[in-house]
Amino acid sequence: MADTSVDLVILGGGSGGYACALRAAELEMSVVLIEKDKVGGTCLHRGCIPTKALLHAAEVADTARESAQFGVQTTFDGIDVAKVNSYKDGVVNKMYRGLSGLIRSRGIQYVEGEGRLVSPTAVRVGEDTYTGGHVVLATGSYARTLPGLEIDGERIITSDHALLLDRVPASVVVLGGGVIGVEFASVWRSFGAEVTIVEALPHLVPLEDEASSVLLERAFRRRKIAYKVNARFAGVERTESGVKVSLETGESIEAELLLVAVGRGPISDGLGYDEVGVQMDRGFVTVDEYCRTNVPTISAVGDLIPTLQLAHAGFAEGILVAERLAGLAVVPIDYAGVPRVTYSEPEVASVGLTEAQAVEKYGADKIAVQNYDLTGNGKSQILKTSGAVKLVAVKEGPVLGAHMVGSRVGELIAETQLIYNWEAWPGEVAQLIHPHPSQTEAIGEAHLALAGKPLHVH
Ligand code: NAI
Repeated sequence: MADTSVDLVILGGGSGGYACALRAAELEMSVVLIEKDKVGGTCLHRGCIPTKALLHAAEVADTARESAQFGVQTTFDGIDVAKVNSYKDGVVNKMYRGLSGLIRSRGIQYVEGEGRLVSPTAVRVGEDTYTGGHVVLATGSYARTLPGLEIDGERIITSDHALLLDRVPASVVVLGGGVIGVEFASVWRSFGAEVTIVEALPHLVPLEDEASSVLLERAFRRRKIAYKVNARFAGVERTESGVKVSLETGESIEAELLLVAVGRGPISDGLGYDEVGVQMDRGFVTVDEYCRTNVPTISAVGDLIPTLQLAHAGFAEGILVAERLAGLAVVPIDYAGVPRVTYSEPEVASVGLTEAQAVEKYGADKIAVQNYDLTGNGKSQILKTSGAVKLVAVKEGPVLGAHMVGSRVGELIAETQLIYNWEAWPGEVAQLIHPHPSQTEAIGEAHLALAGKPLHVH
């Protein structure tokens, strides 16, 4: 039984927690970082990194299968799932080793074990107590399911199980057409599975600008990824070879697997938050714009708080808390300015407001919208990708949002992120010369058109 006292105790070593630890240590605070599994959390071990490795393998499979259109003759002999998994695990392990080394080199005291908040300033792990001038809660999220829908890890699975599959399923029903559902649907289709997505709302990726959803749906139809929108799950029964999923319409779909991707819930049960008096709302810890809870010595970051459940938002929240506690001047995060990317084929990327949000905020007569179809972009034609860049701006004013669909557009979003966050006007962006040929030219072209001087636009 030991009692350790430091400046900062962080509970949870995922993106939010470890970013906070790294920055706090850099700012010369003494830090204890408590993690029950592996530092890196969902993003590194069960989320962003392994799924993007699968998506890259899927892209390689598509390239091999479709290489003849570029005049390159290959034969596609299928997917060796064991090798795909070892490539994916190799990437994760390398990043994990790097991150563990970084934690050590910054002098952070890393504690492996399940922690529990026992007072406004203390966390207990087994018999040991870690007391901090401040505590940061960063215990993350888990894959949710629906009431009465039991995950068995075999036929009815979440993304956690999907990442460990040792085979390509012949057929899958994906429940939920949000980011996780769409990304796994894309991977499995590239690997040869028959996929049907079931989404309750009227569109796939329903939080995106409607134009992006429509383009993604068109691309998925071409890829023969089936989807049903406005479709609510009614029940599932196990069959001899898999599952039979029923919808509220009375329709049913049979498949080998059901992937449940209906959102992620906060991990806060049984961790002492309630007992210590931390205010919560449906399991999420309530915070203000500086990630402060109602308890003065406790902050919270990452998927545990009801902001964007994105690793890079978690990093930003962790850094903000560390800097605030070190006495630096900090500004609240503008969540609309956080870029969002769905890494399916094609990718969907966005920053800022959708057209509907801009119209609601400013009124339709104050808003200008510009679409630029990637058909006019040379590099996109070389890559044989289709899609578009859509801009939303205030008339005679700044750019409010950028929305893109197409292969690799996730890499383009960084430029529009700067445009949005610096409140640039289309005419200013139109001054920038983009490299030719590149997909980034599509951003330049869209701004030129919006500024009233279109180049390759009818
Ligand atoms: P999500 O909230 O993005 O999507 C869940 C979808 O399920 C929604 O579209 C919802 O309408 C639908 N749904 C809910 N109940 C339903 C029902 N009964 N029947 C049919 N559809 C139903 O959640 P998701 O995809 O599970 O992802 C969780 C979090 O992880 C998200 O916040 C996401 O942003 C994040 N994430 C981010 C990634 C990225 O940035 N590339 C990748 C994967 C996850």
